[in-house]
Amino acid sequence: MYHCNLPSLLILSLSVSLVCGALNRTRHEIERDIDALLERMTLEEKLGQLQQLGNVMAMFSNSEPDNPAGDPLAEHLQLIRQGVVGSILYVRGAKRANDIQRAAMESRLQIPVLIGFDVIHGYRTLFPIPLGEAASWDLDAVQRAAGIAAVEARSAGIHWTFAPMMDVTRDPRWGRVMEGAGEDVFLVAEMSKAKIRGFQGTDFSQKDKVMACAKHFVGYGAVEAGRDFNSVDISERQLREVYLPPFQAAVEAGVGSVMMGYHNLNGVPVTGNHWLIRQVLRKEWQFDGLVVSDYESVQDLIGHGMAVNHSEAAMYALNAGTDMEMVSRSYVAHGAKLVEEGKVTVETVNTAVRNVLRTKFRLGLFEQPFQFVDEELAAKTLAKPEHLQAARELAAKSFVLLKNERNILPIDIRNVKELVVIGALADDKANTIDSWGVEGRMEDSVTVLEGIRERLRNTSVTVKFFKACDAVCNSSKNPDEFQQALNAAGTSDFVVAVVGETVGVSGEGASLTNLNLSGDQLKLLQGIAESGTPFVVVLKNGRPLTIEWLADYAPAILVTWHSGTMGGPAVADVLFGDVNPSGKLPMTFPRSVGQVPLYYDQKNIWRPYVAGNIFTEKYKDSSILPLYPFGFGLSYTSFSITNLRLNSTYVMAGDSVTVSVDLTNTGNRDGEEVVQLYLRDVAARITRSVRQLKAFRKVAVKVGERKRVDFTLTERDMGFLDEAWRMTVEPGEFVVFVGNSSDAELSRTFTLFPSLFSSTGVFVAGTTTAWLLSFAVLLSNNLKT
Ligand code: NOJ
Repeated sequence: MYHCNLPSLLILSLSVSLVCGALNRTRHEIERDIDALLERMTLEEKLGQLQQLGNVMAMFSNSEPDNPAGDPLAEHLQLIRQGVVGSILYVRGAKRANDIQRAAMESRLQIPVLIGFDVIHGYRTLFPIPLGEAASWDLDAVQRAAGIAAVEARSAGIHWTFAPMMDVTRDPRWGRVMEGAGEDVFLVAEMSKAKIRGFQGTDFSQKDKVMACAKHFVGYGAVEAGRDFNSVDISERQLREVYLPPFQAAVEAGVGSVMMGYHNLNGVPVTGNHWLIRQVLRKEWQFDGLVVSDYESVQDLIGHGMAVNHSEAAMYALNAGTDMEMVSRSYVAHGAKLVEEGKVTVETVNTAVRNVLRTKFRLGLFEQPFQFVDEELAAKTLAKPEHLQAARELAAKSFVLLKNERNILPIDIRNVKELVVIGALADDKANTIDSWGVEGRMEDSVTVLEGIRERLRNTSVTVKFFKACDAVCNSSKNPDEFQQALNAAGTSDFVVAVVGETVGVSGEGASLTNLNLSGDQLKLLQGIAESGTPFVVVLKNGRPLTIEWLADYAPAILVTWHSGTMGGPAVADVLFGDVNPSGKLPMTFPRSVGQVPLYYDQKNIWRPYVAGNIFTEKYKDSSILPLYPFGFGLSYTSFSITNLRLNSTYVMAGDSVTVSVDLTNTGNRDGEEVVQLYLRDVAARITRSVRQLKAFRKVAVKVGERKRVDFTLTERDMGFLDEAWRMTVEPGEFVVFVGNSSDAELSRTFTLFPSLFSSTGVFVAGTTTAWLLSFAVLLSNNLKT
């Protein structure tokens, strides 16, 4: 039951029924209320609605300030009372959220403040980093996680999260690959939609939902050489085929907001990129939500060399269609003058304000501005046992088993008297608060060591822990400690070696030139290998690492990413076989940094790699093939995928194709397999990729069980963008591959014929033979039915 904000109602002179029923109100009614508000607003108040305040220091302090006068919030509250603030970010806790809305109620028009926060992979309960979530290939579990994040965040007064990050990422040198769903267009789109569904539900005005934000629009994943904050230069074709589609999918899924990136795209920084916002986002996709800049990215137009000063920066960004300015204050400082000088029209300002107000209406903020947050609620909501359980389950699902020689995993505790855990990352609480785990607390999180100890508590196994070196691993700092760990490895029955990246080298501003294990971690693993004791390498990582030695010599490798609050117990669940691993890589693991960027969805090339043939694509000093391909991941059981069949091998454009396979669990444990379907359009006038993921299903199969898995390929799956960027299909041959990684070999071919009935406006300039064939197929299909 919602209560009305009566003072606002009076000021707006709107009837109670109109505002109270905002959650079910028509678009027309909302626009009418916005008109009424706009008429009452001064230019200063309008520009104020376009301002998002924030102070990065507030983000990193989750305690109440000792000195309220030194708190940036004091200044912010003052501005809110003046009615010149539309939004604020980095607000910690329901009390502050309420202080903010109370201040808004003291302003002339009592427009509530939109409160944003980076709830990227959980709020207080941290789920695995988004790259890990994507590795689960489990859309329901990811949606559930975002739903929990929304419940927790909204209980603390947050309306808006800056997620999902949906940059397609193909360069693991870029630290922000941890924040997205990896290299593949389809997987990124599906994961992002799942997160949006989880965050927003069907109506983000509900008090357990938050508005999502698709970011960073667009192409930031292609930042040059993986250098964060650098520029992006990609063709319009690549933009439209690779980087834009996930965003389009998000808009179609109803995402409430879009964040522009920091970066320069093809010479025009995105925050000031008129074409991108006004043409692509607003006109082509009809997006009517909110467009926000990135942190100070309006002011950064000066740094990019686009604007000479803040006034010009505001002019470019406003005219391009960036509605709200995050943190820097160029709009409020210069907007009025720009209007006066005719450099920005009042209509432009009004449109931006309209987008902000529409968002506030959609969020239901006018119904319940400050009473909305019950200050007791967060304490009862955050890190609840069921939230922690969901985090544990998703973490276990996200782990990718890369190697398991002679099935040494799961660890059979009947054969282990003493188990040694080695590596600082195994028991480092600070490193459980992953990049963007802003509200996460060390006291909630459970380390790998704690998870293992708990799992083995009532067994006869003795668990010993040796740090060996600090997380970065400089063995010369304490050679005795290093040697002690190796000695212990030698005398134990099994070693769990936990190595990888600290959270500090992953995330924003964390680009790397070297993807090897840092410091002496490899030396440590080599020492353990020499001891002859069986061991597993548990990798904690925010990106693909170069681990060629491990692939050759470690008996078992489990990729566990940065796995959130419950990562430790989840590792134990998998190591001891309570959970059968089912994750698949969302990004290719290269052999060396020199291979980067390396991804499966490559263009056909005229001389693809053929072993032994000198005139084909290759490196002289390395294999050209990845170490582990996209979509790869093992299980403790084995599966077979057989009997690939298509409902027809002659297809009329416009028709869909049904693809079926049989999935059998041929091993001796129940498990889940991700069945992946890739499609190749053999030839087209605009060349296609070697293969592209078009569908996948994660299927649970019991020992000995066989399940039929069906997929439907639609015309859109077979299509591509023509020279005028219209979706089209071209008659010809297509190859369907189905398997459990991007290396899937099982294939069938079908031929597509032109048709007059295609919904994509199929390419009809086929040869006479093609037309004749198509009529023959049509005729024979009709005769059959
Ligand atoms: C900068 C980051 O690029 C963006 O992703 C984030 O949402 C904002 N800062 C707000 O913290």
